[in-house]
Amino acid sequence: AAPCTHLSVNGQRCELPVDSTALTLLHLLRNDLGLNGPKYGCGLGQCGACTVLVDGVAARACVIPATGVAGRDVTTLEGLAPPGQWHPVQQAFVDEQAAQCGYCLNGMVMMAAALLARQPQPSEADIRRELSHNLCRCGTHLSILRAVQRAAE
Ligand code: FES
Repeated sequence: AAPCTHLSVNGQRCELPVDSTALTLLHLLRNDLGLNGPKYGCGLGQCGACTVLVDGVAARACVIPATGVAGRDVTTLEGLAPPGQWHPVQQAFVDEQAAQCGYCLNGMVMMAAALLARQPQPSEADIRRELSHNLCRCGTHLSILRAVQRAAE
């Protein structure tokens, strides 16, 4: 069979560029599709700023080759809620004023949304474990924790 050359991004079919062998998913999203929700932080799969959902599972777009998600469903921050609406996690982050510089928030929100989708009532320990590999250099961890708890209520 011919190799699959498209993917779905926020529900829309997207063709992979012809020469995409060296392209990461993060660069495809940001540079080719103009989706700037996912952030470039470390580029090494370590900080979580670039987190997206692949078939509903949180994944680090900076270390995934674009060709690696051919045929899959990718959701970015932009596609988390219907147009003009916020996902409950986004609303809770605003209500708790959980951002300082905001650079980590894409990853925090995407991780929390994925967690709540599979476990609607996580314990505090569950939330801490889930977000423990997402780095926030401002140190707003307690507000972030409160926001995820609020979204789960
Ligand atoms: Fe992808 Fe840091 S930018 S994990």
